[in-house]
Amino acid sequence: MHSTATLFAILAAVATVAHAADAPQPKVVGLPFTRTKKDVSQLPPLARREAVQLGLQNERWGYNVNVSVGTPPRSFQLHLDTGSSDTWLPDRLSNECKRTGCKYGVFEKKLSSTFEELSTRGEFETLYEDGAGVTGIYFSDTLNMGGLNITKLTMGLGINFTGTRMTPDTEGGIMGIGYEALEVSARKDPSNTYPNVPKQLLERGHISSLAYSLWLNDDDAKFGNILFGGVDTEKFQGDLISVPIVRSRDTGLYDRFTVALSGLAVTEKSGKKVYDQQDLTVPASLDSGSTITSLPDDLATRILHGVGAFNPENGNVWLVPCALGSQGASMKFSFGGTNGPTIAVPFEDLVIPFASLPNVAPQLKEPKKVPICKLGIDRAGNGPVILGDTFLRSAYVVYDLHKNIIALAPTKPYANDSHVEEITNLSIPGVTATAKGVDVASYSPPVNTSYTSALPTFEFGMAAQKEIYAVVGLATGQLPPQLPLQLIMSGFAIIVAGLFGGSLMVLW
Ligand SMILES: *[C@@H]1O[C@H](CO)[C@@H](O)[C@H](O)[C@H]1NC(C)=O
Ligand SMILES: *[C@@H]1O[C@H](CO)[C@@H](O)[C@H](O)[C@H]1NC(C)=O
Ligand SMILES: *[C@@H]1O[C@H](CO)[C@@H](O)[C@H](O)[C@H]1NC(C)=O
Ligand SMILES: *[C@@H]1O[C@H](CO)[C@@H](O)[C@H](O)[C@H]1NC(C)=O
Ligand SMILES: *[C@@H]1O[C@H](CO)[C@@H](O)[C@H](O)[C@H]1NC(C)=O
Ligand SMILES: *[C@@H]1O[C@H](CO)[C@@H](O)[C@H](O)[C@H]1NC(C)=O
Repeated sequence: MHSTATLFAILAAVATVAHAADAPQPKVVGLPFTRTKKDVSQLPPLARREAVQLGLQNERWGYNVNVSVGTPPRSFQLHLDTGSSDTWLPDRLSNECKRTGCKYGVFEKKLSSTFEELSTRGEFETLYEDGAGVTGIYFSDTLNMGGLNITKLTMGLGINFTGTRMTPDTEGGIMGIGYEALEVSARKDPSNTYPNVPKQLLERGHISSLAYSLWLNDDDAKFGNILFGGVDTEKFQGDLISVPIVRSRDTGLYDRFTVALSGLAVTEKSGKKVYDQQDLTVPASLDSGSTITSLPDDLATRILHGVGAFNPENGNVWLVPCALGSQGASMKFSFGGTNGPTIAVPFEDLVIPFASLPNVAPQLKEPKKVPICKLGIDRAGNGPVILGDTFLRSAYVVYDLHKNIIALAPTKPYANDSHVEEITNLSIPGVTATAKGVDVASYSPPVNTSYTSALPTFEFGMAAQKEIYAVVGLATGQLPPQLPLQLIMSGFAIIVAGLFGGSLMVLW
């Protein structure tokens, strides 16, 4: 919580308009973002995601872009979020900014000569999963990003923050870049949409098609970028393959970035598959505002059991020995059926250290010292299946809101080269194939699955780790043990008592 300032200080560049070397110059708008890892407990996800269970303890890994708003301009660092569609800022007079100071930027309407209240659009209101929320007003003003001014952009102003906001780091605003149908005003009345940031860039002629690419870069990297209207063909390996976006079942609209997850495999370092299921028909949403990947319960249970994860207090937080991340094993997600793209996510990226206290990771003190990490996978329950940052970092993703497709390829991490091409209404550069997709209409979440066949266990050739896994239960062949756990939030301490007779402790 204390180290955010230094994390922000990594990239000096404000924002750039990207140009490829070739003429004519493509119409694209590039914006770098910095990433913060936050050691937060009980943090709600970025924006409203009905019924998403992200769990009590959950780290928010934010992707932040720099913009300025108003006349004269004031600076803001906004979380970039594909899972919501409004851009909103905290108000100087809000209870939240009075409490915390809102260090990522505060808006003060009487200090901007271009501010206009939009009372006809109704109340601005965004809810968090745990019941906390923000209400306020809609307004319009100039937003500057990447050197471009978007005048009269409709935005939300957060005035009344309700519920418990758990940490001082949550107060920043958000740039939601999803479909217009997901705007707060449009959820109340589907005809009440307005042009949000991507649509404004299109309407003002800065980009040629309503599409953008997101390169989150490597797990350890502090930056990545978003390219509105373009594809950087140097930032991925192989070819992009597109899959259709699926309409939301509840609204019948294109409003979330949902695609058909058709296969899941787990491979060892050698490439040998220790788990393989390619007949899935699961609608899964790509969401840069979520940290965690939530899979259908039956699938998640097999993976969690396979890796020997354990969940304290039956919660949604799954813990594993950190050593799981260094075995060279991967999960391979396939989309859209047989010809669709496959993205391999190394367990290294799925095993999340307790970020802020690198030298004091939790340990099972007795009888073995075992560093414990969080696993970036949980069960979706009745909520949507979500592929969050832990998945997205392994992929280069093109979100095309005009053609209603997502194009994916394995990312090229730390790529320094750049070759930017423009996305048009007719084509996405770098896309060589289109998967037909599989029918996900009949999918329903598995409830109370009974496991008739044995749950898998993966060893990943970890002979040396076997003792560790014996401690956490893998070797028993049973479901992972449920550890009684006491969370002491204020002291960043978790004490596990009573494991196998009461002598083990996890402390940090
Ligand atoms: C945004 O601005 C902050 C503060 O000036 C700076 O530390 C950070 O590197 C900037 N981020 C980007 C992506 O340019
Ligand atoms: C953008 O707008 C701000 C204030 O609204 C103004 O100061 C600035 O000169 C404008 N920049 C450009 C590039 O038009
Ligand atoms: C803020 O919202 C809460 C809950 O809806 C309400 O009780 C309270 O009166 C509001 N405060 C202000 C200042 O509007
Ligand atoms: C591309 O499609 C959008 C609608 O999604 C339209 O507004 C725009 O004019 C089209 N651009 C071109 C170059 O045809
Ligand atoms: C990009 O540049 C950095 C710094 O010079 C270097 O460490 C890194 O290996 C380069 N990336 C690639 C993919 O070559
Ligand atoms: C699933 O199991 C739980 C606990 O055993 C029970 O409360 C619930 O009603 C069951 N749900 C269904 C749909 O069977």
